[in-house]
Amino acid sequence: MAKVTLKVYRGDKEKGEFKTYEVPIEDGMVILDAIHYIQANIDNDIAVRWNCKAAKCGSCSAEVNGKPSLMCKTRLDRFAKDEVITVQPLKTFPLIKDLVTDVSWNYEVNKHITPLTSKDEGEWVIYQEDIERVQEFRKCIECFLCQDVCHVLRDHDKHANFAGPRFLVRTAGLEMHPKDTASRTKYLKEEGGIGYCNITKCCTEVCPEEIHITDNAIIPLKERVVDDFYDPIAKFLKGLFKK
Ligand code: SF4
Ligand code: SF4
Ligand code: FES
Repeated sequence: MAKVTLKVYRGDKEKGEFKTYEVPIEDGMVILDAIHYIQANIDNDIAVRWNCKAAKCGSCSAEVNGKPSLMCKTRLDRFAKDEVITVQPLKTFPLIKDLVTDVSWNYEVNKHITPLTSKDEGEWVIYQEDIERVQEFRKCIECFLCQDVCHVLRDHDKHANFAGPRFLVRTAGLEMHPKDTASRTKYLKEEGGIGYCNITKCCTEVCPEEIHITDNAIIPLKERVVDDFYDPIAKFLKGLFKK
């Protein structure tokens, strides 16, 4: 039976190392299947977080050959026949054990974003084209792969100053919602730190939901911040036509 060689990170925040495993391959296997094989047959204490195995719960995020990926969406037949595949935890968040990281920082960031705010009571009537613009942002499964790849968090450790692409997506979904009346540009400029983003598009490249994070969320938000804080005419006109 054909086998694949995986080097899987084993350890906690104190110390760890890559351990090599040989796993028999079956058709259609994904990285998560291989980790489950290891758990069932070789090292049953390997820690891995997962839930749906359908690329929808966002739990099984890891780095596969250095790329932030969902383990349940990464097929083994994508790799060359004799390629050794490395599987390691997300780098941007504190390690708990093996492939499991503590992503709770993200939920704290989320609490600081003003929720949907509307003066309209009762049933909402919304034109389809107005709601379509924000539907893309609702596809987010909070896998935090975009947060992991973003160099502002990953390499510069700006967790205290930058919300990260996932929360710029959430803010865009609120700001562009046809019934929302709140302004989040002050948050974006200050606490959200949108100025740190230099549109490298790495976040868009890893998003499993194929959300156009930079083009459809971050760039329009940056334009709103410029209008509100650096362009007095745009700010005046926006005041006249305020939602
Ligand atoms: S485009 Fe911005 S948010 Fe996305 S990875 Fe690059 S710097 Fe980070
Ligand atoms: S925007 Fe995409 S990559 Fe980022 S958390 Fe949501 S689904 Fe994951
Ligand atoms: S197990 Fe749910 S996204 Fe992978």
